[in-house]
Amino acid sequence: MNFLQKTSSVLLLLIGAAATAAQADEAKQGHELFLKRGCYLCHGTVGQGGIAGPHLVPDTLPVDAFSAYVRTPAREMPPFSEKILSGAELHAIHAYLISLPKSPAADSIKLLPKPGK
Ligand code: HEC
Repeated sequence: MNFLQKTSSVLLLLIGAAATAAQADEAKQGHELFLKRGCYLCHGTVGQGGIAGPHLVPDTLPVDAFSAYVRTPAREMPPFSEKILSGAELHAIHAYLISLPKSPAADSIKLLPKPGK
């Protein structure tokens, strides 16, 4: 590897790290908004679903459909206009939800009974 290649790979690493950090910041802000704007009241503190609202994770809607739904819900959910929740804030909430780790597979949880046993 020559000097130029080395320098550019270090630069790419730094850009990658900065992008990951920016995503983490957005997800963190989204988490705060999810709590502050009251999404958690119906959808559960980590979007797992509650008595009043369905789960939002896993299988979170793509960001455009997600945003469209929050602006103009079809049934019980109250609408959140741009005045209450900006587009950037909505994106941050989406970033938070998709950053959440998936649950482990049921058969990897030792305490759960195995089917047929
Ligand atoms: C008062 C309860 C309530 C609050 C608060 C609420 N929701 Fe909902 N949400 C619902 C219900 C109930 C549904 C199911 C569809 C319907 O009845 O409108 C839903 C559906 C959704 C859906 C569509 C899910 C899907 O997969 O079809 C999204 C996305 C969503 N909510 C996001 C949010 C976000 C983001 C917030 C906070 C800004 C929020 N909701 C606040 C009750 C709520």
